[in-house]
Amino acid sequence: MSFDPGQVFDIELRDGTPLRLRVIIPADRDRIAEAIRRLSPESAYFRFWTRARTVNPRLIEALCSPDQQDHVAWAALHRGRADLPGVGGASFWRLADDPETAEMSITVADEFQGRGVATWLQAVLWEHARSLGIRRLVGHVLNDNLAMRAWWDALGATAEERQRHWLMRLPLDESLLPDSRAAGSLRQALARVRGVGGSDPVRTPPAAPAGGARP
Ligand SMILES: CC(C)(COP(=O)(O)OP(=O)(O)OC[C@H]1O[C@@H](n2cnc3c(N)ncnc32)[C@H](O)[C@@H]1OP(=O)(O)O)[C@@H](O)C(=O)NCCC(=O)NCCS
Repeated sequence: MSFDPGQVFDIELRDGTPLRLRVIIPADRDRIAEAIRRLSPESAYFRFWTRARTVNPRLIEALCSPDQQDHVAWAALHRGRADLPGVGGASFWRLADDPETAEMSITVADEFQGRGVATWLQAVLWEHARSLGIRRLVGHVLNDNLAMRAWWDALGATAEERQRHWLMRLPLDESLLPDSRAAGSLRQALARVRGVGGSDPVRTPPAAPAGGARP
């Protein structure tokens, strides 16, 4: 199965919000730092597991230097709002000791949560991961992160309880998706990402930052 990381997907959320999905590139560093700075304390805590309000610059550097093989990262950018650094980002790292598994992280800007952004990012990560031979995604989800837990539960993920978090496992097999609303939304996004039931993705060179604007 082939998946071209140079693809750019121009999509609309359920409420019509126009977004662009594209891979993250090193030039996105300032954009990512600003998007993180704008997160609510709760969202930042759920993503980074710390109440500290500054994020280690080395982590930001790592986030925006994907090799698109063992570390893949995508951004969701608003096509009409130049004042926004981005509305969401998602990435995975392939596990060194289990190359068919990758650990995923995802964050959506607070004012865009609950509008389907994560579902679109999940769809592009799903297809990108499968094209690289990855068969499952795992996520470390803090005990009190009920939205993330509810979402992946609704996608059929399993959850193993750890001391302060759940280790969740999501098989990348569409036939295993349950009959839930969230799974239905993901199926639709997957179909569009695969080019079924939607217009062809826009193609632009991956090195060109697209959509939104510098913070
Ligand atoms: C978890 C998170 C990524 C979800 O992003 P989102 O864009 O709001 O998710 P979507 O709108 O695509 O919703 C996906 C599904 O999640 C579920 N969901 C979303 N928010 C929920 C909530 N507050 N409570 C219960 N279920 C929720 C719904 O089933 C929804 O699907 P549906 O609307 O089709 O039924 C977002 O809340 C976030 O960024 N949180 C802070 C950072 C974080 O927790 N990251 C994960 C670390 S492991």
